[in-house]
Amino acid sequence: MSQEDKFKKVIAHAKEYGFVFQSSEIYDGLSAVYDYGQNGVLLKNNIREYWWKSMVQMHENIVGLDAAIFMQPTTWKASGHVDAFNDPLIDNKDSKKRYRADVLIEDHVEKIRQKIEKEVKKAAKRFGDSFDAEMFKQTNPRVVANQEKIDAINKRFADAFEANDLEEVRNIIIDLGIACPVSGSKNWTEVRQFNLMFGTQMGSVAEGASDLYLRPETAQGIFVNFLNVQKTGRMKIPFGIAQTGKAFRNEIVARQFIFRMREFEQMEMQFFVRPGTEMEWYNTWKETRMKWHQSLGLGDEYYRFHDHEKLAHYANAAADIEFKFPFGFKELEGIHSRTDFDLKQHQEFSGKKLQYFDPEINENYVPYVVETSIGLDRMFLAMFSSALEDETLEDGSTRVVLRLPYVLAPVKAAILPLLKKDGLPEMAREIMKDLQFDFNVQYDEKDAIGKRYRRMDAIGTPLCITVDHQSLEDKTVTIRHRDSMEQQRVKVSELKSIVDGLVNMTNVLKSL
Ligand code: GAP
Repeated sequence: MSQEDKFKKVIAHAKEYGFVFQSSEIYDGLSAVYDYGQNGVLLKNNIREYWWKSMVQMHENIVGLDAAIFMQPTTWKASGHVDAFNDPLIDNKDSKKRYRADVLIEDHVEKIRQKIEKEVKKAAKRFGDSFDAEMFKQTNPRVVANQEKIDAINKRFADAFEANDLEEVRNIIIDLGIACPVSGSKNWTEVRQFNLMFGTQMGSVAEGASDLYLRPETAQGIFVNFLNVQKTGRMKIPFGIAQTGKAFRNEIVARQFIFRMREFEQMEMQFFVRPGTEMEWYNTWKETRMKWHQSLGLGDEYYRFHDHEKLAHYANAAADIEFKFPFGFKELEGIHSRTDFDLKQHQEFSGKKLQYFDPEINENYVPYVVETSIGLDRMFLAMFSSALEDETLEDGSTRVVLRLPYVLAPVKAAILPLLKKDGLPEMAREIMKDLQFDFNVQYDEKDAIGKRYRRMDAIGTPLCITVDHQSLEDKTVTIRHRDSMEQQRVKVSELKSIVDGLVNMTNVLKSL
């Protein structure tokens, strides 16, 4: 199946099984805005909970915050967003389609990178166990040439970006022979900057109303509260402030479903450190966050780091954790060393000191910040798209199964009476009532048992608990496991601890 077809399947499945709907669909929808359905909201909540617990609950020096979406507009002047939160846009004159110039160049680079990967894979097959991938990459002439091409493009783009030279950005696109994916033509307009913030107004019309922005990142709510939290929480550096919440960006090239949205949710943590220690913390957080992703058990091949060549106006180091989405490796999370840029800017624009007295070195300073920033919706897409599988079984039949990590699955167990009579529904409901104090469980008595199993496979339910006639006699039930489809007979009295052992978040948190 092509990447495109696989992705279409992901989107269709998300809708059919109540995970993600187009916003205001009955009015033909709103582009790049989505609603989460009955199963989607549970998956989203579970991802958020896992992030929150691992970041806040498990770190005694990280605390939470819930700042407002609206902020005093000077915030965005100070942060640089009014002047510099732009995307370079370019239009194709034939298709009339608009693109982000940097994305066109990145996609071109990605194609060259894929050529290298193909070459490495082919060689690995040929040479078997003795294959040394690093050595091959350094010595194979075709790979070396392609890597040089990539480095040259990246450097040229980084220089143009640094100098804000939009003409040069256009020249890169022309020189690389990049064509419009829709029309195939290379007939491009000039490159222009476009600010991504949504503006709105507070107060009554016209006079007296002040212009506001919907926040484009949650981070600034943390920066402006730095001293409030530090003082009231008696926090000592190094310490972190974490929050989850909505952010808004007027994305011009909004495609790829919930990968790039205009309204989305971020999970961010700003870690305040002593100046000069930021690179150490930057590396620590890179590692910690990669471990968090890997703990969900998908396999290391789904993740890779991408160290930034071009840095945002506030950063002295930055890396992405990229995920293998159905459309290729793309950014899932950013780890940024933001220096003291933000606090210093807010200090200057507000006229209020944002400093910390460090008793260990007897000095006042503006702390440096290392941030970890992940999109909740993007994490949802990562988990959902990688979990969806069309499986062919031994008997030749097929099933659609959503192999979500157990801790993230919306429904942990389904309670299914084999028949809708003979006291089986009553016993099943009793089991459900007992389990629902601790787990999100679902009762289902409609249709044949096989069909019910398939419905649960499709929404990723790890366990199906079936109540049959034997259950009435000896107080046992069968547990059918989603992934292996194996069944085991267990005592009802042991159910809670068996389910807990398999789906409890504590087990995964302990592995961090
Ligand atoms: N405070 C830093 C910051 O906002 P960013 O790289 O612009 O950095 C961080 O965004 C993360 O937010 C990204 O890695 C991505 O997961 C998510 N994100 C950014 N823009 C998004 C969008 N339009 N739709 C969905 N998620 C987005």
